Amino acid sequence: MWTRWALSSRHISCRVRWYSSTPTSTHVEIQGKRYPTDHLTNITPSVISKIPLQLHTQPGHPLSTLRSLIESHFPDFSRHSAFSPLVSPFKNFDELSFPLDHPGRSLADSYYVNKDLMLRTHTSAHEVEVFRNGDTQWLLTADVYRRDEIDASHYPVFHQVEGAKIFDANSSSMREVELDNERLLRHLSSSNIVIEDVKHISETNPVQPGHDPRHAEIITQNLKLSLNGLMLLLFGSAAGATPSNPLRVRWIEAYFPFTSPSFEVEVFFRGKWLEILGCGVIIQATLDTASIPNKLGWAFGLGLERIAMILFSIPDIRLFWSTDERFLSQFEQGKLTTFKPYSKYPSCFKDVSFWIPPGQSLHENDFCDLVRDVAGDLVEDVKKIDNFVHPKTNKTSQCFRINYRSMDRSLSNEEVNDIQSRVVGQLGHQFGVEIR
Ligand code: DAH
Repeated sequence: MWTRWALSSRHISCRVRWYSSTPTSTHVEIQGKRYPTDHLTNITPSVISKIPLQLHTQPGHPLSTLRSLIESHFPDFSRHSAFSPLVSPFKNFDELSFPLDHPGRSLADSYYVNKDLMLRTHTSAHEVEVFRNGDTQWLLTADVYRRDEIDASHYPVFHQVEGAKIFDANSSSMREVELDNERLLRHLSSSNIVIEDVKHISETNPVQPGHDPRHAEIITQNLKLSLNGLMLLLFGSAAGATPSNPLRVRWIEAYFPFTSPSFEVEVFFRGKWLEILGCGVIIQATLDTASIPNKLGWAFGLGLERIAMILFSIPDIRLFWSTDERFLSQFEQGKLTTFKPYSKYPSCFKDVSFWIPPGQSLHENDFCDLVRDVAGDLVEDVKKIDNFVHPKTNKTSQCFRINYRSMDRSLSNEEVNDIQSRVVGQLGHQFGVEIR
């Protein structure tokens, strides 16, 4: 889930011990430039190959249409969509007040080129830079990278839109925001939307020490009204909202290192609550670092794939990367069309079991990156189906089940066997495991 490490500490920070293959060379090449590798390097060829694609700016691509739709809700905001994904860990984490032991920093969760350079894990990484350049209301769309499991809704590259607005911290400016809030409220109250709200500020979701609580309330209300309007624009018609069956949106208290108070927004769609975005009142340190005095404001970040899968009925996240005309020809810039699957080709399941030597670890994300490097988008799903420690030898045994399925064609047995044997060979080579 795209906000998972921002919200909780589900992951235990884990250091991957790369066995013999990564990095064997002293440099990696990314978009024609060479970068030195070091003990942190864990970026993979498969992920590097995605960097030039920039799906969110490809005319007609569903992610580009969704970006434009979101931009249309904020007509006065400046727009950015060409920031490089290579950032320093400082910019991705420290500038946004992430603590040193935050799980998002771990090699198990993020891709590092070396100790000074990584692939951004979220668009918030550019907040300070954009504020420093003088933008006061802006949207930024970009590709972001996280190491993750493999299934129909997880991919190591996905796209986010970051939005932010800052205001003068004085009573006349706050009066204007209040008037804006009244206008936004009028629009929403005549629409088919029901909002389950939480308090703007509470003991568990506090106002920042330097903020006037009344100002923080007004700003939070402006944030909520702006985003409720966005949810109505995105989901109102797709969900077929009517007076008797309105769109349901709920606000939940959350935690992010770079906002307070902080919230998550969920939308009720086809019988389920879906997590759509994270947001909050910008932590003052971010604006201080950007040398912006006497202002306060809000920010949000949302993942595009999740929303696009719903709005265009796209069943598998790999499809966004398809270059098959049967996929691409179904979409036109600016139009929300329903995807018609051209075919579902058969699955082929293969298991691999191995012993990990005592004292060595292999994170599920390491396994998934290895499979992606060998099989590319021919892998649909990976599940760990067994894990046990031998009581005598203390060795760990793991078994993974890989589901190979192409989105474009039938795979032959031979082809799958060949891929599987390369996965198995690479496992031994890269992690020194003993295949069972
Ligand atoms: N960057 C967060 C994530 O990827 C999402 C987010 C939360 C963005 C709060 C924001 C924000 O701008 O204010 O999980």
